[in-house]
Amino acid sequence: MTALRLDDLRQHSDILRLRTGKSLTLRFVEPGDAEILQAYFRALSTRSRYNRFLGAIRELPQTLLGHFIHAGEDDRFSVIAVMTIDGIETVVGEARYGFEADTRRFEFGLSVDDRWQGQGIGSALLRNLECRAAALGAELVFGDTLRSNDVMIGLARKSGFAFAPTPGDWKLVRFEKHIDAAPQDIPCASWRLAAERIAHQAAI
Ligand SMILES: CC(C)(COP(=O)(O)OP(=O)(O)OC[C@H]1O[C@@H](n2cnc3c(N)ncnc32)[C@H](O)[C@@H]1OP(=O)(O)O)[C@@H](O)C(=O)NCCC(=O)NCCS
Repeated sequence: MTALRLDDLRQHSDILRLRTGKSLTLRFVEPGDAEILQAYFRALSTRSRYNRFLGAIRELPQTLLGHFIHAGEDDRFSVIAVMTIDGIETVVGEARYGFEADTRRFEFGLSVDDRWQGQGIGSALLRNLECRAAALGAELVFGDTLRSNDVMIGLARKSGFAFAPTPGDWKLVRFEKHIDAAPQDIPCASWRLAAERIAHQAAI
């Protein structure tokens, strides 16, 4: 397990700038976010939820919600993209990723609120995830999506991912990309987090 100090989590936030000129904050999900995260998933369209979870669910089952709100548990992390709208912090997207240190593989899934799709949030989230992957030392970034999910497939193609069959499930397609960028090229919170850890290890 990667130990993350909960009181430090807010420090590891990124500001994502969108092509529309708007910006949003990407931060780790915390235990106090259970309600807003669940409300976000409930408010997604049936189709978006189906595409995100590769099956029909109305909300996150309690056990899964428990995993989502504990950053770093089993080396898996959930992040939410938030904007302040009329003074209220509003979740407009989320992503969950896991890093397997042995194989240096970084797996992720993401979603954007239906009302905010098509404005570049998915692309910005994906770029940030690639940076986090590089920061963790990943060699391969990948995800699986339904073969019918044209938008995710279009986003992955545009972002330079290659495609392969998902082992064991013909309904899915795997998009994957080898990481060759140095994380410094695309600054992100996880890069800073990793750099701090390296500096800390060097000092002890
Ligand atoms: C997939 C998803 C995250 C994309 O987010 P988004 O914010 O709408 O993405 P963007 O606005 O950055 O668009 C990214 C690219 O997707 C592609 N795209 C968008 N709409 C498309 C469509 N109708 N058909 C094909 N490609 C499309 C385009 O390449 C677009 O790039 P462009 O705007 O430069 O042309 C979002 O649609 C979503 O949440 N879907 C439901 C959940 C899901 O499918 N998750 C993926 C499972 S891993």
